[in-house]
Amino acid sequence: MAAPQRSVRCIVLTWVALHITTTEAVDRSNFKTCEQSAFCKRQRNVKPENSPYRALLNSLDVTRESVKLQLINEVNKVPLLLEVYGLRGNMTRIKINELNPLQPRYEVRDVLVREPPTVPLTVVGKDEDSVELSFENKLYKVIITSKPFRMDIMTGNELLLSINSRGLMVFEHLRKRKDSYTEKISNTVGSMWNKIKNVFISEEKEEENVENQEVKGESEAADEEAQAEKPEDTNSQKENEEKEDEAGMWEETFKTHTDSKPNGPSSVGLDFSLPGFEHVYGIPEHADNLKLKTTEGGDPYRLYNLDVFQYEIFNPMALYGAVPLLLAHNLRRTLGIFWLNAAETWVDISSNTAGKTLFGKMLDYVQGANEIPQTDVRWISESGIIDVFLLLGPSPFDVFKQYTSLTGTQALPPLFAISYHQCRWNYNDEDDVRTVDAGFDEHDIPYDVIWLDIEHTDGKRYFTWDPNKFPNPKEMLQNLASKKRKMVSIVDPHIKIDSGYKIHTTIQSRNFYIKTKDGNDYEGWCWPGSAGYPDFTNPEMRSWWASMFAYDQYEGSMDNLYTWNDMNEPSVFNGPEVTMHKDAVHMGGFEHRDVHNLYALYVQMATSDGQIQRSGGTERPFVLTRGFFAGSQRYGAVWTGDNSAEWDHLKVSVPMCLSLALAGISFCGADVGGFFKHPSPELLVRWYQAGAYQPFFRAHAHLDTPRREPWLFGDDNKLIIRTAIRERYSLLPFWYTLFYHAYRTGEPVMRAMWVQFPDDMNTFSLDDQYMLGDALLVRPVMEPSVRGIQVYLPGKGQVWYNVHSHQRHTGPQNLYEPVTIGTIPVYQRGGTVIARKERVRRSSSCMQDDPYTLYVALNGQNTAQGDLFIDDGHTFNFEKKNEYIYKKFNFVNNSLTSSTDPVGHYKTAAWIERIVILGARKPATVTIKLPDGTESNLNFEYNTETSVLTIRKPAVNIAAEWSLYIR
Ligand code: NOJ
Repeated sequence: MAAPQRSVRCIVLTWVALHITTTEAVDRSNFKTCEQSAFCKRQRNVKPENSPYRALLNSLDVTRESVKLQLINEVNKVPLLLEVYGLRGNMTRIKINELNPLQPRYEVRDVLVREPPTVPLTVVGKDEDSVELSFENKLYKVIITSKPFRMDIMTGNELLLSINSRGLMVFEHLRKRKDSYTEKISNTVGSMWNKIKNVFISEEKEEENVENQEVKGESEAADEEAQAEKPEDTNSQKENEEKEDEAGMWEETFKTHTDSKPNGPSSVGLDFSLPGFEHVYGIPEHADNLKLKTTEGGDPYRLYNLDVFQYEIFNPMALYGAVPLLLAHNLRRTLGIFWLNAAETWVDISSNTAGKTLFGKMLDYVQGANEIPQTDVRWISESGIIDVFLLLGPSPFDVFKQYTSLTGTQALPPLFAISYHQCRWNYNDEDDVRTVDAGFDEHDIPYDVIWLDIEHTDGKRYFTWDPNKFPNPKEMLQNLASKKRKMVSIVDPHIKIDSGYKIHTTIQSRNFYIKTKDGNDYEGWCWPGSAGYPDFTNPEMRSWWASMFAYDQYEGSMDNLYTWNDMNEPSVFNGPEVTMHKDAVHMGGFEHRDVHNLYALYVQMATSDGQIQRSGGTERPFVLTRGFFAGSQRYGAVWTGDNSAEWDHLKVSVPMCLSLALAGISFCGADVGGFFKHPSPELLVRWYQAGAYQPFFRAHAHLDTPRREPWLFGDDNKLIIRTAIRERYSLLPFWYTLFYHAYRTGEPVMRAMWVQFPDDMNTFSLDDQYMLGDALLVRPVMEPSVRGIQVYLPGKGQVWYNVHSHQRHTGPQNLYEPVTIGTIPVYQRGGTVIARKERVRRSSSCMQDDPYTLYVALNGQNTAQGDLFIDDGHTFNFEKKNEYIYKKFNFVNNSLTSSTDPVGHYKTAAWIERIVILGARKPATVTIKLPDGTESNLNFEYNTETSVLTIRKPAVNIAAEWSLYIR
């Protein structure tokens, strides 16, 4: 490529400079508001009124699988096709597309794990204005009203949710531009598109078109009916008359960037009303509270994967990833709306109770005001189709199951990946790596993984090593392997344009780069300077990329080297909003506009496949990604990007990860210590304490910040940090079991309080405390210089034990917990059993066969249950060969039994060295009985002050079955 013009180069250099210096907060002017995004503005200008859409009930086409009918916009007469599906497990899917689009509109691929199994939908009633469908044995009803078009989903007599009840549906049909000059241009672009399409379009798509034609044929009568019934010429319709050439429809400029929009306007929007709901959650990623706020008077929440430099917190701006899943919860049920669209999306939230104080609401109640609280949600996407899944719960766990049955569950990480990671930008060379690694041993701090950022490469050419700083990568990796430690190297998806770089030349020659609108390879600026962006939407490209992780392709790599995919929104320093031009072209002729939010998912998918393949399919991968979409949970971990060493950033890490967990992505963490700026020792210590109780636990820091390995902040702080990391290690069996459940059932590892206590309103807005599984309640200290914190312990009669002091509390109560700098307030719920390994070593693999301690926390009824999953910690054998141990522990009638799932079989030398019973009474004897009938007495200690019974050396293998009697 020719050298960039001076002005372009200046912009780029300024951008690069911005990325490597630490100025203050985000420059908002780099990112669009809804008002500056033409389609968002157009859609948002449509106010609630009678919808121009009408359902043509005569076109009703009912099969076992679905119900189809046409919708017509009475103003422009463009017919749409509505498809309704009943899905197995209390879900319904609603699709709306143009009946006969000028060209295929993009439909999201590779996110659903399979075509969701349907259940029969039956027509149970019909009159001239509505049709009533039912599914799941008449448990749910869908009522489609014709004029104006709306849908209502009911169960019994309860209205769960309405669609287009505010008349905000807008489906911008594809069209030819009218004016003659631009018509010429758009024809040229159109014919280019056709050329590309002819090359790429899959037979499958062609088949779909044929199907569409057939549906059209069948319903021509309905079309005629629509033509015959000329709409009344009312004023409101005149106002509604289609604006063919509004600013921003065919071209849009933001700052110095012009989006050519060859296809013209193509946005879709739809409103949902949720009567009875005041609390909505989800739609990550935003640096905001857990409970979503109303957006009236401000910007909607934006979902558009962006590299936001020094992001601001507590606002709805877009960030690196997007999951278009919203959850609504009230005392009776939980619902989910999954809007499957990968284009730029905005979500407006309004509520009739917004702004009302609790007192105001009570007054309404006392005065008998009978307005039911309601939340309205409006989704707006720039292109694609309307494809929405309604997850009808009724419980939060049902919604998790429903959502993950569609998009997949969290991949089970290798054990090392949920241990502690040490990262910074950058560990400079092999010596540096050796010294830091040795530092952990010297200071007796466990850690599993050391990370290499972009500077380790040969000039930002990924899959290579800087020959001077990292001349012997294998030796370095072997040294780590000898301590059972791992390394992660960064592999970003922008590829340096350099004729001597094999990765680039291959991608170029195989035509794998994304194209510009004119058909050339798209080039943008990122870390290496001028770079190409592989088209990860192309399966061939992905499989080639995956093959690059083979040990003989990625030279210097070994089996303990894993991967970090950064900048995959994708970040383009000189692109609009620091990302790719929307008119860039992907496989199949689809525009980047259509697939933008999916790009990062594909990058992580291909990378994780690469890791699986290099081991011949036996080893589980580990890939960290910054960008993500619905389904990314299947490929690894995410982190919350470039945060700052500020107390509020520490605080917001909790709701950010909780929102991700609600949306299926459990493996989440934030840069411990904060990426930008230098944390005070107190902040760093508190961050380690919080991070030790978040799923992905990694310290990271910006290139310009002073070094911050845990021993650089004085002995006292080092000891506190060490204690926090060691706590994480001792709890690894518990974490691993939680991840196993997330993998098997889709339930989140880190849980919003309301998920576990869905009928306690006091939990609905809490986001400074959370549950790990159903057993531990964590309320990290996230405020400076405090001597105490407030924690809410929910549950009527629910017993809670402080895990450090073993002090017993009963809920519900607002507990004031005095804290020192060493305190991490964590409580074990009475009624649970968790397993720990209390002999912490230098890495998790070193602890593989170490003995367990069981913590049995008794509830008010003196019972407790818990479980434990064990396997080799790194292969797929648990799944392919049933090589695992799954234990259940049950305490009832003063006896603890350990039972083992008979299907799993895995040999371990690990045994049980201790059982600690919290809330126990003092026994006279404790005996253990084995399946062969032998019974022996065990030593124990009883602490009368704390009511803790410690039973020493049951000395049974963890896989064994036994019963323990406390008499
Ligand atoms: C941006 C990432 O968010 C950050 O974590 C990383 O250190 C830099 N890119 C350099 O790779």
